[in-house]
Amino acid sequence: MIKNICATYFSPTGKTAAVATRIAESMGNALSLPVTHDPFTVPGERTHTRSFSPEDLVVFATPTYAGRVPNKALPFVQELFQGNGASAIAVVTFGNRSYDNSLKELVHELTEHGFHVIGAAAVVCGHSFAGIGMGRPDDADREKLDALVEALAKKIKDAQGTLPTIAGVPGDEQPWAYYQPTGVNGEKTVFLKALPVVDETRCDRCGACAARCPVGSIPYEAPDTTTGICIKCHACVHFCPQDARSFCDPAFLSHKSMLETTYARPAVTEVFL
Ligand SMILES: Cc1cc2nc3c(=O)[nH]c(=O)nc-3n(C[C@H](O)[C@H](O)[C@H](O)COP(=O)(O)O)c2cc1C
Repeated sequence: MIKNICATYFSPTGKTAAVATRIAESMGNALSLPVTHDPFTVPGERTHTRSFSPEDLVVFATPTYAGRVPNKALPFVQELFQGNGASAIAVVTFGNRSYDNSLKELVHELTEHGFHVIGAAAVVCGHSFAGIGMGRPDDADREKLDALVEALAKKIKDAQGTLPTIAGVPGDEQPWAYYQPTGVNGEKTVFLKALPVVDETRCDRCGACAARCPVGSIPYEAPDTTTGICIKCHACVHFCPQDARSFCDPAFLSHKSMLETTYARPAVTEVFL
C-alpha cells in the first residue's frame, strides 16, 4: 500500500521540476498522502543513494536532450536510485521538437532498477535555448496531466494486489540513437565544445551560475571560466540575475535558428497508463 509520494527530478532550468512537482502534489491531494521533493540536478544533490520501497510512489522526471534521457544524467538515474518495488510515474519534458526515445528509455531504466512504472507522461515545455514551446505546458497540457493523476489515483485506490505496469510508450528498439542536430542549411552541426561567454561589464560575481551548473563546471571564484564539460543546459544563462551569460558559437546558433524555423508548430503532450 502506497504511503508516501516523492518527486525526484533532474532539472537544470526548472521546467521539469515544475511539472514533476505539479504531478506529485496533485497525486498527494488525490490520495491524501504527504509529498517530498528530492532533486538530483546539481552535484550537492547527488551525494547519496536513494532506496525506495513498495510504500513509495515516485514521480521521476528528466528533460529530453537529443531525443534521450540527458547522457550526463543517465549514470545518476542508473546508480543513485533503487526502486525495490516502489511504484513510479515516469515523466519527460521536451522543448516542442520531439521526445523521440527519452520516455521509453526512462521507463526502461526505472524498470531495470526495481521500479514498477504505473504511468508516464511526455510534456511539452518551453525549450531551454530556442524560442519554441513558449507558454507550455498550457491549460490543455495541464488538463491531460490532471486526467492522468485522476486515473492513476483511482487505479491505486481500487487496486487488489499489484498495480498493472504501463505499455505502449512509443520509441525505437534498443540501441537508441541520439538525435543529430542540424543547422539552418540542413547539414549536421557539431557544437559539443561550445561554452557560455560572460559579459564582464554585467557579471557581478554573485555565484548564481556556479550554484546552478549541474556538472559543477563553473568555479565560484572565477565564474567567467568553464573548467569542465558544458552540457548546454542553459541553467547558468537562465538563472543569471545580470543577464551576463550567453552562447555565441556559430554552429550552436545555427541549430537554434533551425529549431525555431522548423519546430514552431505546437507539439503534443502525451500521457500513458
Ligand atoms: C542540450 C539540450 C538538448 C535538448 N534536446 C531536445 C530534444 O531532443 N527535443 C526537444 O523537444 N527538446 C529538447 N531540449 C529542450 C528540453 O528538453 C526542454 O526545454 C526541457 O523542458 C528543459 O528542462 P529543464 O527546464 O528542467 O532544464 C533540449 C535542451 C537542451 C538544453
